[in-house]
Amino acid sequence: MTRRILLVNGPNLNLLGTREPKVYGTDTLADVEALVARMAAEFSLDVRAMQSNHEGEIVDAIHEAREDCAAIIINPGAFTHTSIAIRDAVAGVALPTAEVHISNVHAREEFRRHSYLSDIAACVIVGCGVQGYEFAVRRIATLLAE
Ligand code: DQA
Repeated sequence: MTRRILLVNGPNLNLLGTREPKVYGTDTLADVEALVARMAAEFSLDVRAMQSNHEGEIVDAIHEAREDCAAIIINPGAFTHTSIAIRDAVAGVALPTAEVHISNVHAREEFRRHSYLSDIAACVIVGCGVQGYEFAVRRIATLLAE
C-alpha cells in the first residue's frame, strides 16, 4: 500500500511568514512543507505538497491523490468556508483527511466558524499554529496503522 500523504494548502497560504504574522506566525510555507515531510519520515511516510489559490486546481489535486496517496492533510484556507466542490472531492476520493487551521477560527469572525469539510474529515486541528500540521501527520500515521 502507498505510504504517501497529499499535503494541500489553499489560497493565500503561499504568503505564510509575511501574512498577518500575529494570526499565522512567521513560519513560511516552505517551513511548513519541510516540517510535514520531516514528521512524515518519522513514520516512514512521504509527502507530496501542493499549494494553490485556485479552487479547481485543489479539486484536481485531490482527485489525483486517488492514484498514489493513502491520506490527505488539507488547510483549505478561505475555501473552508465556501467550497462545496472541495468537500465533494474529499468525500469522493474517500481517503482519510485531516483538516488543519493555523489560527483558532472559532475565536475570529463568525463566518470562519463554519467549515464545509469538518463533518467528513477524519480529524480537525484548529488554533495550534503550524504545529497543527505536525499533529495531523501523527494522527494520519495512527489511522493508517489501524
Ligand atoms: C485558515 C483560516 C481561514 O479562515 C483563512 O481564510 C485562512 C487560513 C487558517 O489556517 O487558520 O486562509 O485556514
